[in-house]
Amino acid sequence: MSITPFKLERYYSLYEFKARVMLSSSDCESLSMAELLALASPSSMELWNNLKLGYTETQGHPILRQEVSRSYAGILPEHLLIAAPEELIYIAMQSMLEPGDHVIALSPAYQSLYEVARSIGCSVSFWPLRIEGSRWVIDPDDLERLVTPHTRLLVLNFPNNPTGFVPSKTEFDAIVQFARRHGLMVFSDEMYRLLEYHPEDRLSAICDVYEKGISLSGLSKTMALPGLRIGWLASQDTGLMERWLAFKDYTTICNSAPSEVLGIIAVQTRDRLVERNLSIILDNLKIAAGFFDRLSSRFNWLPPSAGSIAFPAWLGQYPVEELCRRLVEDHSVMLVPGSMFDHTGGHFRIGLGRRNFPQGMAALEMVLAE
Ligand SMILES: Cc1ncc(COP(=O)(O)O)c(C=O)c1O
Repeated sequence: MSITPFKLERYYSLYEFKARVMLSSSDCESLSMAELLALASPSSMELWNNLKLGYTETQGHPILRQEVSRSYAGILPEHLLIAAPEELIYIAMQSMLEPGDHVIALSPAYQSLYEVARSIGCSVSFWPLRIEGSRWVIDPDDLERLVTPHTRLLVLNFPNNPTGFVPSKTEFDAIVQFARRHGLMVFSDEMYRLLEYHPEDRLSAICDVYEKGISLSGLSKTMALPGLRIGWLASQDTGLMERWLAFKDYTTICNSAPSEVLGIIAVQTRDRLVERNLSIILDNLKIAAGFFDRLSSRFNWLPPSAGSIAFPAWLGQYPVEELCRRLVEDHSVMLVPGSMFDHTGGHFRIGLGRRNFPQGMAALEMVLAE
């Protein structure tokens, strides 16, 4: 099997542990071990203190699955598979797709959401997010033009990485109806769900509203714990689990035992973690809005409606790659150009979840002044 390199991850590997400020990161300010353990209930602290470092259950710790299932309306612990989020994209695609299948994927998107399908031998059509004035939009009617007799899967990601776009509930219903009409599977990457700036914008998890829907979620973004490598797949389609497990036996077999117990603590204190992260994001959003307002002749801001990232457009004289290069070389501040998402139009991704965001934006302003 051959697979195209993951552009964004390769770009990150150049700077992630070297740059002074990561101004494009999609995760929120990571919690320390002490911060997380301070939130533990007496019973989870007991689990932590008595933890034996053996192999764990392939499907995931039963208490972790029990806690995660509470956040869904129609998902039981036995409907959940726990693993690293990126691993779960791989497992889900491998267990769902065959060579020759056709896949419709939202674009721009996190590369693995369509690249794994391509590596299996599927053809992929992109469903584009478009810009209308100063906001991102989608047109659910596009889907009828993209579907073919071979279409097996629709890939969604709301809130979207990199744009922070969330469709309206009416648009979301139209998407689900489209999938149902054509009998499609829907893989919905919900890694940024719960980080909506207005709670009324939150969409249902696909696994709760569509019988052929698979939701991907996890602790990396919403809960600021990417180092735990804990996420989950959830679906009402109970036939999927056996295939998922068959693939997981060839990836990691089971999860890290400490990560699972720390994950239980995180899920049990979910609301406090989300509140902490949203508060960092909303503070940074104000700084971003002020910055792009002052420099509106040089940028199209395109404000996000949820999540920890945005995808503004650079309108300056030179290419956005050059802007990113100057920023990292002269100020050690890393910014990802849109080409890492196979996207043209001068976009770049900014990350709103880190506490040193103001320093990063100050450096960006200095580059513009130079
Ligand atoms: C939309 C989306 N899905 C999945 C992942 C993978 O998550 P993780 O890095 O925790 O495996 C990411 C990470 O950036 C992401 O942005």
